[in-house]
Amino acid sequence: MKAITFFDTTLRDGEQTIGVNFTTAEKQAIAQALDKWGVATIEAGFPAASAKDFAAVAQVAEVVKHANVTGLARLKRTDIDAAVQAVAAAKHPLIHVFIATSPIHRDSKLHMSKAELLQKIAADVAYAKQSIDQVMFSPEDATRTEPDFLVEAVTTAINAGATHINIADTVGFSTPTEFAALFKNLQEQVPQFDEITWSTHTHDDLGMATANALAGIANGATEVQGTINGIGERAGNSDLIEVAAALHVKHATYQAVEPVELSMSKQISNRVAQATNIPVSPNKAIVGKNAFSHESGIHQDGFLKNPATYEVLTPETVGMVSNLPLGKLSGSHAVMSKLNGMGYQVTKAEMADIFPVFKQIAERTDVVSDRELRDMMKVVQAQATEGQ
Ligand code: KIV
Ligand code: ZN
Repeated sequence: MKAITFFDTTLRDGEQTIGVNFTTAEKQAIAQALDKWGVATIEAGFPAASAKDFAAVAQVAEVVKHANVTGLARLKRTDIDAAVQAVAAAKHPLIHVFIATSPIHRDSKLHMSKAELLQKIAADVAYAKQSIDQVMFSPEDATRTEPDFLVEAVTTAINAGATHINIADTVGFSTPTEFAALFKNLQEQVPQFDEITWSTHTHDDLGMATANALAGIANGATEVQGTINGIGERAGNSDLIEVAAALHVKHATYQAVEPVELSMSKQISNRVAQATNIPVSPNKAIVGKNAFSHESGIHQDGFLKNPATYEVLTPETVGMVSNLPLGKLSGSHAVMSKLNGMGYQVTKAEMADIFPVFKQIAERTDVVSDRELRDMMKVVQAQATEGQ
C-alpha cells in the first residue's frame, strides 16, 4: 500500500481565484478543518506578497496541530526570509520555493539562460536550506519544460537540499498520458528519486486536473497538491475531494492508504464555499447537490433495487445523502416508494390509478414537492371513495 499525502493550497493558490480574499480568521478556521480532514501540508499564503499575507501565514502556523504549514516564496532571498519567518511558529514548518523552467518563461519573463537558472536554483535552495529542514522546490510550468532540462533543474534542487519536488502543470496543458510519461522519465533519470516526496500540482484549464494528478500517482508521485472545490487561478486547481474519492473508489488500481477522512468532505467543501462566496455547482462531482440525485424512472427503479446500479460510492462515504427527486421522468416504482416513505400504504395495483395523476402534476413542475403529493393523494382517495 502506498502512503499518499495531500498538500492543500486552498489558502494560497485558491486565494488567487478572482474575488477571493480570505480574512485571517477564515484562513485559521479553514486550516484547522483541513488539519482535521488529514492533509499533510497546508499552504497558508505568500508571505512576501503583503503584510496581511505574512500575518495570516504566521497565525495559521500557530493553530495547526498536525500538518506541515508552508508559505510560498519566489526563488529570491527576501521572499525566502519572509516565508521562513512566517512559518517559524509551526510545529512542522516547510518552505515552498519556485521558479519557472520552461523556455517561454525563461525567455519572455525571466530573461535567463538555462545555466543562469541552474545556478540560481542551486544557490537559493541551499540558502533556504540553511534556515529550514523541509524545502519544497517547484519548477513552474514543468510540463512545458524540455524533459532533460527538467531533470537537470530538479536534480540541482535536490543536490542543494530540496526534500520535496512539486511538478507543476501551471497552465493545465498536460494530458494524463503526457503527465504519466513526464513522471516516468523523472523516475528513470533522477538518481535520488526514491529519497524525495514528489507532488503533482495540476491546473484545470483543459478539465484534466484530477485525471493528471491520478496519472502522476500511478507513476511515482506520492503527494497531490490541490484545493477544496478546485478553486484557483483561471479554471482552478485539482480538487482534492475528487482525488480522494477517486483513490477510494479505485482502490484496487492505486493501492493507496486514504490520505484524508473522506466522510468530512462535504462539510469542508461547504466551509470553503461559504468563505469564498462561490457556490458549488449542482453537477460538481462528489459534493454537488445533484451528485447523488437520480431523476429518471429507469435510474430510480435501478437505484431502489440496488443503489450500486447508479452510484460508484455510497454518499455517506463523503458526507452526502442520496436523493430521488420526483419529476416528469420519474417512474411508478419511485413514486410508490416515496409515498410509502411518507406513511401511505400504496400497493402496486393502486399505483395504476395514482401514477397518471402524478404524471399530470409532474408535467407542470420541475420537482413534485411533498405537499403536492399529499394534495394528490387527497384527490385520489376522494375519487376512490366516490367510486365505491
Ligand atoms: O501553478 C503553479 O505553477 C504554482 C506554483 C507556484 C507551484 O502554483
Ligand atoms: Zn498553481
